Order: sequence, then structure tokens, then C-alpha cells
Amino acid sequence: MEEEKRKGLRVVLFPLPLQGCINPMLQLANILHSRGFSITVIHTRFNAPRASSHPLFTFLQIQDGLSDAEIRDAPTSNVMSLLAQINLSAESPFLDCLNKVLLESKDSSEKVSCLIDDCGWLFTQTVSESLKLPRMVLCTFKATFFNAYPTLPLIRAKGYIPLPDSEAEDSVPEFPPLQKRDLSKIFGEFGEKLDPFLLVVVETTMNSSGIIYMSCEELEKDSLTLSNEIFRVPIFAIGPFHSYFSAASSSLFTQDETCIPWLDSQEDKSVIYVSLGSVVNITETEFLEIACGLSNSKQPFLWVIRPGLVLGAKWIEPLSEGLVRSLEEKGKIVKWAPQQEVLAHRAVGGFLTHNGWNSTLESICEGVPMICLPGGWDQMLNSRFVSDIWKVGVHLEGRIEKKEIEKAVRMLMVESEGEKIRERMKVLKDEVERSVKHGGSSFRSIETLSNYLLSL
Ligand code: UDX
Repeated sequence: MEEEKRKGLRVVLFPLPLQGCINPMLQLANILHSRGFSITVIHTRFNAPRASSHPLFTFLQIQDGLSDAEIRDAPTSNVMSLLAQINLSAESPFLDCLNKVLLESKDSSEKVSCLIDDCGWLFTQTVSESLKLPRMVLCTFKATFFNAYPTLPLIRAKGYIPLPDSEAEDSVPEFPPLQKRDLSKIFGEFGEKLDPFLLVVVETTMNSSGIIYMSCEELEKDSLTLSNEIFRVPIFAIGPFHSYFSAASSSLFTQDETCIPWLDSQEDKSVIYVSLGSVVNITETEFLEIACGLSNSKQPFLWVIRPGLVLGAKWIEPLSEGLVRSLEEKGKIVKWAPQQEVLAHRAVGGFLTHNGWNSTLESICEGVPMICLPGGWDQMLNSRFVSDIWKVGVHLEGRIEKKEIEKAVRMLMVESEGEKIRERMKVLKDEVERSVKHGGSSFRSIETLSNYLLSL
């Protein structure tokens, strides 16, 4: 009956143009479509999703104000600056596009229920209010991190940075389990320039009709309750989205499928998978340290080196021929991998990760323990949860040095401490798995969300 009512309803989605934000938005689209909703995806020209991979959805592209050259150079540019630029340029094209969708729906039997867009868009609440369309916010961060948005400017103003070495491991009283040494990588080069951005996000979220989290009570029940108190809107934690639909179809890069036969030829739980996601950059020195650390560990590895990952390099040119040969003895290097499939492979026993929230959840759901090498922003908090709270990984504490990498890989993959971490990961995986099964907390939240959208 409820499903029948949803059949006459359309939801409009607007992802932030980053891989780590497009994946969850299109997975959410699939979840809602499976519950009877029709889907329209409005997207920028920059990092446009592949419409042909989602034939059941309607895709509408808008101008984002970036030039051809800016789009071409994006892999090696500061992506946060590009997003800031789009936030300034895309409001009017977005308004026109959304207005058109609403006008068309007036002539059809289908009603538009609401807009769901990323918490990183700054203008969408104003637009949706002007069109009298309810707006829901998709948060692609852990709720604990989003909850800190209102307090981050206060934390910055406390003057914890620069930090004396003696206080590096102290916890941040306003933001546990973060340590003071994590803060410089959260505020990065932006510093106080972040304050107005955070303020707008908090205000617009408080004026929205609700927040959807890719998370679950099993991972952060208290933070979800707190989120409801902070933002004073309904909260829906509907689980790791990839448990329902894979992210593979929304990949912006070509996935190198040769990893799978290579993994087939490896022993069970012997391979360390290495990937730093779609945004993080490292220096050439750090790159060479990782290469030597992996090579010296003597452990097989699958390493995703995204073109543009290494600052100032196109791809792997900083590696000498000798180092490439020694890496190839034990490992495989690809430009982009089918990550979910890789993590689910029986041969993968560890994940050296930047702890993006998608990667962290994907690793938990496959029961793969992690080595944490966060690059910034929410990754600093995710990695603390992995290493200090759930204790399902080891933290490199920013030491991108060959000896540290070799030590962490061997500890996780061959030593008894690694075995204990693996056991704890198995328990966490089972808990999260229960939440997405029929009757579990996330599963029930999808039902509640679907009915809520119906009521808007
Ligand atoms: C960023 C933030 O780091 C993240 O915390 C936030 O939630 C979204 O924006 P990103 O750095 O790209 O995202 O990391 P992550 O969240 O881990 O997302 C990467 C996605 O790309 C994952 O779904 C992963 O499966 C996929 N991926 C990554 C591949 O499919 N292949 C690869 O080789 C690497």
C-alpha cells in the first residue's frame, strides 16, 4: 500500500561532485528507487556521473562555472578550491533546473516529494525554500564529525595550534576521541576561512527537513541521538549504503579488473590493499617511503596509485626502474580498483587507508582490519575511532616512513597482535551486518525514511 503511494513520488538528488560523495548519493538513489520512488539526479559538469550506468534514473546536468582547463587539470588541483568556486557559481543554474523539474511535475501525475543534497552545498536550502520544496541533507561523514561543525570554530579559536610536542597526544576535551595533534590536519591551510562555511552548513541543516547518515546505531548510537539534539531535525541512519548497492556503477574512474585474477593467485588473507581514496595527495618523498616500506615488508600488496595522487607527478615516474622491479616481485600497482570487490576477496587481509568514511565502512563490512593514514578533515576522526575506540586497526600517527610502514604491515598481517585486531574486527563486522538485515536498526530506518518522504 505504502509502496503504491511512493510510485507517484519523485525525489531529486544533487550530489557534491567528489567520488566519495557521488557513490553514497547514487547508492541512496538505488535504495529509494527500490522502495518505489522515481529518481532525478541533478549534477555538475565537473565529475559528472555516468548516466548510462543508471538507466532507471533521469540525469540533468547544470553549468558549474568551471572552465574546460580547470576541469582538465582537476586531478592535480586543490579540489576544495574547485568546490568553493562551484558553490559560488552554480546557484542560479541549479534553481533554473529544479524549477523546471517542478513545473514539469505539475503537468504529470507524479509529484516531487523533496530535494536530497549533500551537506557541502551552501545554496540549496535557499533555493528549495524559494521553491517551497522540502530539503533533506545527506551527510557523507560520520555523525560524530558532523556534530562538531558548530564547535569547530570554537576549537580553532582555543589556540591548540601550534602545539608543543608534550601535548600532541592529549585528547581534545571538546571533541573526543580526537587528539590535539589531529587538529592541524583538520583545519589545514584554511584556518579561520572555514568558519563562515561551517556556519552556513549548520544553519541550512537546521532549517532542513532532516539528515540522512550513512551510518548505524551499532557504530554511533549516542552521536546520532546528539545529532538530533544539535540540529533539531529528524535523523535517519540507514546503514552503510554499499551493503545494499555497490559503489562500482558510480565510479568516475575506470576500475582495473585485472586485480581480481591477481588476487585469485594469492594466499588467503595475505594481501595488504593500499588506497588513499579520491582526494588525498602525498609528496614524492612520502610516496617513495610508502613504496620502500611495502617492498621491505615482503608481504604481497595491491596498491592503488591514482594519477595525480603524488604532488608534481603524473603517475609513478618518481619510482626508479629498480624499485618498480622490486615492487612487482610481490605486488601489483593499479590506477583505480574495484574496491568493494577487492576488500571482499578472500586474499585481502589488511587495508592501508586514508580512512575516508566510505572506505572505512567498506572495510568494516568486509571485516578487513586497517592501517590508518588519514589525510585530513573527517579522516582524522574516523581513524581515531578505528585505532583507539573500536581497536580494529593500527595508526601510523602521520609517520610516513618506510620503517614504520613495514612494521605496521608485518604487525597487522603476520604477528599475534594483528590476529587480535582481526578478531575484534570480526565482532564489529557482525554487529554492523545485523543492522542492515531485515528487522535491524538501519533496515527499519529505511522504512521510516521512506514513509517520512511520503509525508513531506
Ligand atoms: C571524501 C572523504 O574522505 C570522505 O570521508 C567523505 O565521506 C567523502 O569525501 P574520499 O577521500 O574519496 O572521500 O574517500 P572515501 O570516502 O573512502 O570514498 C572513496 C570511494 O571510492 C569509496 O567508495 C571506494 O570504494 C571508492 N574507490 C576508491 C574505488 O572504487 N576504487 C579505488 O581504487 C579507490
